[in-house]
Amino acid sequence: MIFDLVTIFPDFFTSILEQGILKRALAGGQVEIRIHDLRDFTDDVHRTVDDRPFGGGPGMVFKPEPVFRAVEALRAESPQASFPVILLSPQGRLLRQPVAEELARETRVVLICGRYEGVDQRVAEHLATEELSIGDYVLSGGEIAAAVVMEAVARLLPGVLGNEESRVEESFAPVAVVYDCRPDFDHHGRDGFGASETASPASDLIQSGQHGLLDFPQYTRPAEFRGYKVPEVLLSGNHAEIRRWRRRAALEKTWRKRPDLLAKVPLSGEDRRTLEEIKVSAFQPVAS
Ligand code: 6GU
Repeated sequence: MIFDLVTIFPDFFTSILEQGILKRALAGGQVEIRIHDLRDFTDDVHRTVDDRPFGGGPGMVFKPEPVFRAVEALRAESPQASFPVILLSPQGRLLRQPVAEELARETRVVLICGRYEGVDQRVAEHLATEELSIGDYVLSGGEIAAAVVMEAVARLLPGVLGNEESRVEESFAPVAVVYDCRPDFDHHGRDGFGASETASPASDLIQSGQHGLLDFPQYTRPAEFRGYKVPEVLLSGNHAEIRRWRRRAALEKTWRKRPDLLAKVPLSGEDRRTLEEIKVSAFQPVAS
């Protein structure tokens, strides 16, 4: 998979490409990352990439010409091929696990890193194939977002993680929609998790092996640290019990911290019974 990055900060990426998953993906040949300096596509001596906004206002806006030239040069390298040209911007579709999975199926992805107060709108409308955001907050530039996209995608490519089991999916249980019963919880559209979402069901957090639930808590030695004990069952060697405990813990953590996810997860009958128990004990008055 080829990532073509279009940026005014080509050096930004050096350290993140030299460690962790991206380093491995590069070394293993699963990923090729090509960095293109936007200023190489300017045509004035000052290598100007930005200009003042029409209509006034603070800040500077990326001019369209260098960005169009950069992407058109990349398209010219393989005129038959069609690949996503992604403008990283806070206005974009939210990057979630299904989006990373979608991108992992491409052979080439162009990532345009915006800067300053914006990018001339004609880039989004007439050059990019889509806009992608990594979350509802503002960054000054798209470089960190591009790094996030690459990291999320690279680890999905076969052979990159090494431990292939970390990506293995359990077989899907029958889909059940569980509605949250907590008084103030609106399960429709909160955090942009609306039903109109194109996301595939339950695959947001597939890495956990818990199918869209938050992961269960993990522990390692020592079994007791400063008086804090690892749950007994994990030391028991009883694998069926451990599996049940972990599933329950994943359900409980998800219900408490991200109840919006529960509405999209396929749950078995046993899961639903477990959830009911969790809710009942949560509302149980503490014994005095
Ligand atoms: Cl992709 N770019 C910028 N500038 N800000 C962001 C973002 C992207 N995603 C969230 N905030």
